[in-house]
Amino acid sequence: MTLKEFIYQIPKAELHLHIEGSFEPELMFEIAKRNKIEIKFNSVEEVKAAYEFNNLQEFLDIYYEGAGVLIHEKDFYDMTWAYLEKIHQENVLHTEIFFDPQTHTDRGIDFDVAFNGIYKAMEDGKEKLGISYKIIMCFLRHLDEVSAFETLDSALKHKDKIIGVGLDSGELGNPPSKFQNVFKKAAQEGFELVAHAGEEGPAEYVWEALDLLNVSRIDHGNRSMDDEKLVARLAKEQMPLTLCPLSNLKLCVIDDLKDYPLKEMIAKGLMCTLNSDDPAYFGGYLSQNYEDVANAIDLSKEDIYELAKNSFKASYLTEAEKQVYLNKVESFYQENK
Ligand code: HPA
Ligand code: ZN
Repeated sequence: MTLKEFIYQIPKAELHLHIEGSFEPELMFEIAKRNKIEIKFNSVEEVKAAYEFNNLQEFLDIYYEGAGVLIHEKDFYDMTWAYLEKIHQENVLHTEIFFDPQTHTDRGIDFDVAFNGIYKAMEDGKEKLGISYKIIMCFLRHLDEVSAFETLDSALKHKDKIIGVGLDSGELGNPPSKFQNVFKKAAQEGFELVAHAGEEGPAEYVWEALDLLNVSRIDHGNRSMDDEKLVARLAKEQMPLTLCPLSNLKLCVIDDLKDYPLKEMIAKGLMCTLNSDDPAYFGGYLSQNYEDVANAIDLSKEDIYELAKNSFKASYLTEAEKQVYLNKVESFYQENK
């Protein structure tokens, strides 16, 4: 079995995926047409040509615009279902997806319309494709904490269906400290806590996410490597980092995948996972991220196996559920190493 086949077939989980970032241009066009919404591009090719970004904000501008064609519950369902069909082909057995309620409520779409469409597709994915899942809702950090509190309120009636809250959107100038109070309330309500930190922002934001928000997972976190004390802390606590290599490349967080410091991070004892972030925009789904990194920095089957195990260990599954998946990874590895 080639390394590529090994990567595509090994059982794995995805822990950092914005469902609005899985919205492929073809489907965007189709939904825009049926909702009679004008978009500023004339063709799928034109859309794809616009996917050249110099930084996070340039991407976010296009990402929020793309999400603007989602109006009805079915639109959210279709977008989510398309993602599930994609990952099903590459043996992703569990996924923990983000959605951005405020991206929709801010343009007059009801929280429940967006949530129900996503939720129903995830339930169908579990039943028809056997993909288990968790849903995490993210607060947009460029908005204020009052808006985050309103979003948390809207989520309360779906509390049993939403595992956690996160923090995304433009990082620089919007430190975790801005959202201390709403994260505290979310913790009291029983939500798991995660936050994007140290993607473009400094290591200081990772400290804040840990100490002020009390997160149990850091999304990205690559800039932690600038701070030795922080690395030691993350390693000691086995705090999972949900790394997204193709995202980092497309958003110019790194210049070349050959410089991806994954081996250094692992050598320092960090709990690393690989993820796709916004696959429709960044050039590949989960396995493509594994594959491109593997080729760039020469990962072995054993390295891939460890990363696949980490993806389940760092999930919000129960310990018993994790063990079932870890056994599947182990059997696959023993048969195909
Ligand atoms: N970073 C921050 N916010 C986001 C991202 C990201 O990569 N994708 C969607 N929202
Ligand atoms: Zn992200």
